[in-house]
Amino acid sequence: MKADAVKIADGVYWVGALDWDAREFHGYTLDGTTYNCYLVFGDDKIALIDNVYGGFFPQQWARIEDAFAQEGKDEIQIDVVVQNHIENDHSTTLPTIVDKFPDVEIYCTQIAIPGLKKLFPVLEDKEMNPIKTGDTLDIGGKSFTFINAPMLHWTDSNFTLYNEEGILFSNDAFGQHYCSGKRYDVDVDAKELENVAKKYYANLITLSSPLVVNKVKEMEDLGLLQKVKMIAPCHGQIWTNPQTILDLYTKWATGDADDKITVIYDTMHHSTQKLAHQIAEGIISEGVDVSMHYLKEDHESDVVTDVLDSKAICLGVPTMMNNPYPNVGKLIYYFNCLSFANCGVNKKAVTFSSKGWGGGAIKNLNSALEEAGFDVLADDVLDVKFLPNESELEKAYELGKNIAKLIKE
Ligand code: FEO
Repeated sequence: MKADAVKIADGVYWVGALDWDAREFHGYTLDGTTYNCYLVFGDDKIALIDNVYGGFFPQQWARIEDAFAQEGKDEIQIDVVVQNHIENDHSTTLPTIVDKFPDVEIYCTQIAIPGLKKLFPVLEDKEMNPIKTGDTLDIGGKSFTFINAPMLHWTDSNFTLYNEEGILFSNDAFGQHYCSGKRYDVDVDAKELENVAKKYYANLITLSSPLVVNKVKEMEDLGLLQKVKMIAPCHGQIWTNPQTILDLYTKWATGDADDKITVIYDTMHHSTQKLAHQIAEGIISEGVDVSMHYLKEDHESDVVTDVLDSKAICLGVPTMMNNPYPNVGKLIYYFNCLSFANCGVNKKAVTFSSKGWGGGAIKNLNSALEEAGFDVLADDVLDVKFLPNESELEKAYELGKNIAKLIKE
């Protein structure tokens, strides 16, 4: 196949893969992604930073061939692979690279070594060089400094700083599942890019939020952050304005939410839905942003994306067999996985429900949300029998108004 490399700096090329068709990754929905990897031409050695997903080798190789052609080199030679992370989407083509260049030197974190050998038994006897924070590698006129970044987002994760140009190859961190024919942040709509970066953070990084803050500080203390002029992650667009994504990560990691409330609901006979709509009206009346998520239609990965920068949620489902409507179970489970409280702030939550006879959803929702780290406002519940009447709809409106006032305080 034919595919071009993109020169991102002198002697540095993007040689990754565009996956236009990816619709699900790590359990969340997306509309395409990229597997970015980079080729750095030193005077003595040529280094490949990361690899791509299985099935995408022809694309990666075509771009590698083009990078060599752009450099005016007839013979392709890769001397070094820096494998910043071992997950399949960044490592599956590594054995093929090793097969083509048996003497290639592999650099990765210590914990990545047994992982790579387990993933790819063909590499069992291949020597690998462990890297730790502060280690450097010179490839002739160009050098790298390594920064281990455990749990951003796997235990083996690592950042590689290309010192001379200030390019931080950050692997998954600062990425976005986004597929475009353009490579840079400035080439695409800024708000759209922020939204896909937010979805990526919410679904992949939320749990590791305290580590985000620590890693940024550590890099600052080491004098490395100040050198970063570009962040080149392994998914999505390259940040030519690194401060944009650093500021967003700091905001999300510290629970610095907007004056925004996410209303999440499902319904059986439209009663809970009516309450949700009235709650939204009350929120809007206070000038607070509202995001609505109808659980019958909306994927939990989109719900948590809005929860990330909301100060509060309102969650309502009907009671069924003394319990919350089962559709909400997956979301509650996901709240527990992500642990928004790790961002240092307990988001406020109110619950509402409708019931035929006995009720029971509210009690269970409240305890589940408390367990998931939300600050549940248990006095503000709304539990309506059958169809909400005018007075109950007014109460729903007031409930929305009250929580909106509360988050503005
Ligand atoms: Fe942790 Fe993009 O893989």
